[in-house]
Amino acid sequence: MKKKEIEPCIIILFGATGDLTKRKLLPALYELESENLLHKDSKIVAFARRPKNDNLFKNDVFNSIKKFSKFKKIDESIWSRLKNKIHYNMSEFYDLNGYKKLKSLIKKLCSKSSEKCNKLFYLAVPPEHFETIINNIKKSGLAAGNSSFNRVVFEKPFGNDLKSAKKLNKTIKKAFKENQIYRIDHYLGKELVQNLLVLRFANSIFDPIWNKKYIDNVQITVAEDLGVETRGNYYDKAGALRDILQNHMMQLLALTAMEPPVSLDADDIREEKVKVLRSIHPFAIKDVKDISVRGQYSSGTLNSKKIKAYKDEENVNKNSRTETFVALKLKIDNWRWANVPFYMRTGKRLNKRVAKITIVFKQNPCILFYEHSKETAPNMLIIRIQPEEGISLQFSAKVPGRKMIIDSVRMDFCHECKFGPNTPEAYERLIHDAIAGDQTLFTRWDEVEHSWEIVDKIAEAWKKSRTIPQYKPGTWGPKESDILIKKDKRKWAKPLTPMYSALLKNNGKG
Ligand code: BG6
Repeated sequence: MKKKEIEPCIIILFGATGDLTKRKLLPALYELESENLLHKDSKIVAFARRPKNDNLFKNDVFNSIKKFSKFKKIDESIWSRLKNKIHYNMSEFYDLNGYKKLKSLIKKLCSKSSEKCNKLFYLAVPPEHFETIINNIKKSGLAAGNSSFNRVVFEKPFGNDLKSAKKLNKTIKKAFKENQIYRIDHYLGKELVQNLLVLRFANSIFDPIWNKKYIDNVQITVAEDLGVETRGNYYDKAGALRDILQNHMMQLLALTAMEPPVSLDADDIREEKVKVLRSIHPFAIKDVKDISVRGQYSSGTLNSKKIKAYKDEENVNKNSRTETFVALKLKIDNWRWANVPFYMRTGKRLNKRVAKITIVFKQNPCILFYEHSKETAPNMLIIRIQPEEGISLQFSAKVPGRKMIIDSVRMDFCHECKFGPNTPEAYERLIHDAIAGDQTLFTRWDEVEHSWEIVDKIAEAWKKSRTIPQYKPGTWGPKESDILIKKDKRKWAKPLTPMYSALLKNNGKG
């Protein structure tokens, strides 16, 4: 992850008045400004449909930052620097004139500041607009010229299946080369996800045991207590499989299982990740039922609040069979991982918001302690991506006293306790890296392609079933998910709460 010098750059935000921009991108830009990570000659140009002018938009930006930034108070001097960078270009995405207008604005902005006219097109728009925007960028000549850089950032989803992803990629490739394309997977920007590489490759104690000889299974959970909120329209077509598993979870799987890269350069890391995706044990459509479970939340109560059934959510089909939960078992056919199952589960309206990777180690023969403790828990290494970011090692120890009683204990690394709360948010890091030309935390086309190949087969198999198991909000999904893992004589790991949990709660972070 080599960091390059930050150059001045015009950031063109498509979908500048949308939810993602308000919640994530604008606060991230403010945070970058606060750290002097936006070049003084950089500009932010909003390309959006709503009738506004520069001042009205600046006002919106201010309100979004106030509401969503991790900083409680807006610093006047930072805001004044950022405000001077902001411009508004009103246009429909399909209107070529809007792009011509944008081109003259950019020309004016560049001539004032520097010789170079670097551009970062950021598409924070629903995917159905991707192709229209790219075609118009090409037609208007906005991406032409090679004395400065032209880069394009795509929010997910990148296609709805392999076929649509290929079509989209083909259109993009008419205007941009792979080294200009930044496909966002915001999980890659999370601190603990990046820490995975350090944990694995900078520690001599983990490296020798990171394989089939010592690891019994790996469990990856991305659980949310939220429902679909206002995104019923999109979600009902995507479901948990396409929304989370195809991208965030496949990336977590790849980073957990990959071989050490030759270097920390983007392509060396992505090369190793793609090898993992290519090594996933092939399965036939008829076998999908044995390795996967889906579910949909019914009505119920969660955190003492009444929760609507998924089917009753806004913009969701009343007869929807879309999954809001998926559990999957995959194997990786390579030397390191042969026969080690990777269990993955994700869902909405589950017991709580938690994303974690649990490495479950093989157990010692319990000959010595059998009499005293029939079932000792396996050793586990838990990487808590969120919340309560940190890493815990769980092992067995003797309970004090005359009797030989064994219990599980853990050693915890609390990220916030050690480094403080102000680590960069995922989007801050990702925008910074796109400006700096570092593609490490963005997915390469072949990663997307192989993930879709796996996911398409599962979706195809599910198409045939007419029913979908239901689960109550506040649980860990349908009972079929427990059965999936129980069939292998295993269970979903319930790691102990880290000791620092209480400390974070007292600081109002829990
Ligand atoms: C997005 C999904 O990619 O990730 C959402 O589209 C989901 O459905 C979100 O809620 C979860 O992200 P995080 O960072 O809150 O775990």
